Amino acid sequence: MRVVIDRVSKTYADRRGQAIEALRDVSLTVESEEFVALVGPSGCGKSTLLNVVAGLTRPSAGAVELEGDFAPGRSATAMVFQESALFPWRTVQANVEFGLEELGVAPAERVRRAREHLALTGLAGFETRYPHQLSGGMRQRVGIARALAVDPAVLLMDEPFSALDAQTRRLLQEELLTIRERTRKTIVYVTHTIQEAVWLADRVVVLSRRPGRVLATVPIPLGRPRTEAQLVEPGFVGAVERLWSLIKAEALGALREAPA
Ligand SMILES: Nc1ncnc2c1ncn2[C@@H]1O[C@H](COP(=O)(O)OP(=O)(O)O)[C@@H](O)[C@H]1O
Ligand SMILES: [Mg+2]
Repeated sequence: MRVVIDRVSKTYADRRGQAIEALRDVSLTVESEEFVALVGPSGCGKSTLLNVVAGLTRPSAGAVELEGDFAPGRSATAMVFQESALFPWRTVQANVEFGLEELGVAPAERVRRAREHLALTGLAGFETRYPHQLSGGMRQRVGIARALAVDPAVLLMDEPFSALDAQTRRLLQEELLTIRERTRKTIVYVTHTIQEAVWLADRVVVLSRRPGRVLATVPIPLGRPRTEAQLVEPGFVGAVERLWSLIKAEALGALREAPA
C-alpha cells in the first residue's frame, strides 16, 4: 500500500477559538513496503499528520490517498501510540482481539489471529494477563500485536518506544525490524530521536517547527536486514550528522518559543 500525502494543511482552533496552524502544505509519498521516519521538534504536527493519514483527523486542506489493494477482514491503517492505550479491563488477548471485533472477524478466527500476533511479539503465555500486570515494554508489545493483528496495509507508529528505558527501547527496535522483515508492512514512524529514525528507516523526513512543513528528506544508505555493525558505519554516522544539522536550528527555535 502506497501513501500519498498531498498538500495537507491542518489548522486547529484552541479553547479560546484562536487558530493554531499545525501543518502547512505537507506533501509526501510513502512507497509500498517502505519504512519512513518523521522527525521534528515537539509540537510541529507529527501526531497530527499520522492522525490525518489514519483518517482520525480531517485535514483543513489537501488529502491523503492510500493506493493499493484492500482485502476484507483487513484494515487500511493501524496505529501504535506512545502509551499503548490498552483497555485496562480487558485481558491481553481481548485487547488484541478488539480491532478484529471492529472488523467483524468471526470469534474463532479472532482468537487465532490474536494468538499468532501475541506470539510474534514475544507475548505467548501472557494472554490472560491484564495491562496493569505488565511492564511498559510488554504493554507496548501488546499495542504492536493489536495493530498487526488487523493486518493493516499501513502501520502508523507515534513515538511508540519513547516512554521506555533505553535498553527496552533498543530491544523493541530490534524486534520491530524483525517484524518488518517478516511482514513487509508499509510503516510511518514518528520519533524525536534522530538515531532511532536512522536505525529503523529507509528514509527520514524532517518537519520544521510549527506549522510543520517538510524541510528535507534524507535517504538512509543502509541495507537490510539491519545489523548492529551498521551503527558505526559511515553511512549511519553521516546520516545522523546530516539530520542533526538540519534539525538543530528548528529545535533551538522551538525551545525558545516553548511556553514556560
Ligand atoms: N485537538 C487539538 N486542538 C487544538 N490544538 C491541537 C490539537 N491537537 C494538536 N494541537 C496543536 O497542534 C500542534 C501540533 O500538535 P501535534 O501534532 O501533537 O505535534 P507533535 O506530535 O509534533 O508534538 C501543537 O501546537 C498542538 O498543541
Ligand atoms: Mg506527537
